[in-house]
Amino acid sequence: MEKAVEDLDQAQAKAELARLAQVLAAANTAYHTLDAPELSDAEYDALKRRNAAIEARFPELKRADSPSDQVGGAVSSGFGKVAHRVKMLSLENAFAESDVAEFDERVKKFLGIAEVSYTAEPKIDGLSLNLRYETGVLVQAATRGDGKVGEDVTDNVRTMADIPQTLPDAPDLLEVRGEVYMSHADFAELNARQAARGDKPFANPRNAAAGSLRQLDANITAARPLRFFAYAWGALSQPLGLTQIASIEAFNRLGFQINPLTMLCHTPDDLIAQYRKIETLRATLGYDIDGVVYKVNDLALQERLGFRSTTPRWAIAHKFPAELAWTRLLAIDIQVGRTGALSPVARLQPVTVGGVVVSNATLHNEDYIAGRDSKGAIIREGKDIRMGDWVQVYRAGDVIPKVADIDLSQRDTTAQPYAFPTICPECGSPAQREEGDSVRRCTGGLICPAQGVERLNHFVARGAFDIEGLGKKQVEMFFADPDLPVRQPADIFTLSARDAANPFKKLKNRDGFGEKSATNLFAAIEARRRIPLDRLIFSLGIRHVGEVTAAVIARHYTTWPAFEAAVTLAEPGNAAWEDLLSADGVGAVLAHSLTEAFRNPAERAAIEALAAQLTILPVEVRANIASDIAGKTVVFTGTLEKMTRAEAKARAESLGAKVAGSVSAKTDLVIAGPGAGSKAKDAERLGVTLIDEDAWIALAGLA
Ligand code: IVH
Repeated sequence: MEKAVEDLDQAQAKAELARLAQVLAAANTAYHTLDAPELSDAEYDALKRRNAAIEARFPELKRADSPSDQVGGAVSSGFGKVAHRVKMLSLENAFAESDVAEFDERVKKFLGIAEVSYTAEPKIDGLSLNLRYETGVLVQAATRGDGKVGEDVTDNVRTMADIPQTLPDAPDLLEVRGEVYMSHADFAELNARQAARGDKPFANPRNAAAGSLRQLDANITAARPLRFFAYAWGALSQPLGLTQIASIEAFNRLGFQINPLTMLCHTPDDLIAQYRKIETLRATLGYDIDGVVYKVNDLALQERLGFRSTTPRWAIAHKFPAELAWTRLLAIDIQVGRTGALSPVARLQPVTVGGVVVSNATLHNEDYIAGRDSKGAIIREGKDIRMGDWVQVYRAGDVIPKVADIDLSQRDTTAQPYAFPTICPECGSPAQREEGDSVRRCTGGLICPAQGVERLNHFVARGAFDIEGLGKKQVEMFFADPDLPVRQPADIFTLSARDAANPFKKLKNRDGFGEKSATNLFAAIEARRRIPLDRLIFSLGIRHVGEVTAAVIARHYTTWPAFEAAVTLAEPGNAAWEDLLSADGVGAVLAHSLTEAFRNPAERAAIEALAAQLTILPVEVRANIASDIAGKTVVFTGTLEKMTRAEAKARAESLGAKVAGSVSAKTDLVIAGPGAGSKAKDAERLGVTLIDEDAWIALAGLA
């Protein structure tokens, strides 16, 4: 039996702190570096709490290597990771009132009903948090992270007054979601304290809230006044209500703060009225908001509407207009991206826009600088942008600042139109524009160092290989390293062997590395040698192949050999090409881009070299979906009467089916409503099973 902290004497406390430091360090290595946890989260947390309690009683015994100061492996961000049981989503944005009307129309059309009620509530400008309660006890708090995996900030959240540690009468499992934020008054006070101590002030309350929550020392978080509004939920053992508004009210009864400006609205006009009301109150609220969120009130309808890849179909964020400021354009720099695109960046005299200091803005492309949009239409009344101009910049939400306007009366009479480079500034290769493309691209391909670095950055980023300890800084370093170069993705996987084979200049002895971080990096790379097919396809950084498309393609082919063989064969007009196009969302532009990448000898060699280093995991048909249609390819045709085509497609996909646009020999099932034409005939000709809508509803378990 462990001795209670209060009963320890000084010598025992010292020995116990030493033991805990060792056990927790081993647990961290097992979890973060070896990906093989030895302790459950609860056991780990209990040990950490015991360590913190002993340190609180005997502050003078706190060790230099105290586990309180270091969570996680050395190269990790410092926090444990939490896989969200229910993805944490973001919201689609609306800017104009017409966007709101379109949203309402879309919802009604999808559901096939005439009227829908919504809630309207302020969009809090903070950071979202998932709070997990088991039998009414707070057991875990996690940040949103990338939506799938967040950071464990439980210790820090326990110090927040707005967050109950226990809930009366809660369901067995309840995940409460909401926004952590800091009030204007608390922000001003915190910054005054920072300044008095000679510490850097925070740019805005949102950054202050994020910085305070993500503290490795929970004592620091405790000293920072963070607040919380509850507005959503994740996993639940039992629903809180039948509607959004009832669920939010249930949160309030459980002891959470809910936003007092949350309103039930019955028409789009009501939504706009509430938007205007909140906008007028904005300056008096005492905390930052950046828009109004509308959510379908009826939870059964929310369920039917479901999700796109990262946003729900049943909600939208109506943002406030962007904030504006005037400043001087000092220079135009050209950045070369992963696909060779030359992107002009405005270097600005720093100016504060809505509480954030802005010194760069995007200028998009050549045409934008010249006063035309990507379709050739005149913008800014045709005013072009010149070096030294007095420009108006704006930012809307988190987006990169943009240049909205130019004050010609302030223009220097000697200013010349900007001459967009026709030579890549990074490698000297010609930079060309393809017909109909507003972007000028470097033609240097793999010989262009800027493209090389950006491809690698994409390769190691979140959503792709996500290799811990290999960020932008390290990628750039390895790219230029004469002894241990990493010029293409495959080189990452030979890094450890090459380092071992070189008796001199070991990685562990280099600047910015040590024994531990070198070992951790090699372990993080090793952990990614097994990679799911969809992530590999996305990681290749092929133009037009984003995360969602990569997943679609992976599901279509299921294995790497099948995928590789198919894209090698595919050429406009042949069967492999048609098959590629039959994957949902794959069009000719994407198919060209994909097949060209595999046909280019240098790129092909880089891909083969990479594949040779990996174990590529085939796509698993989602076995947790107990459905007869998981993994099947289905085609809808004709008029559906019980649900709209959009809903049918979304439902089929959420059950693990692939929805294709045309019937081929690979199609498993065609669902034909009245008026079905050639597709039904194709099905009959190819011997594909053909069913009607009722049979589909029964089969998909939707009845
Ligand atoms: S609902 C499934 N409601 O906005 C929908 N989000 O842009 C989940 N946010 O990540 C979000 N106030 O951090 C919702 N009243 C509100 C919100 C809100 C702020 C944030 C949240 C989310 C982001 C999406």
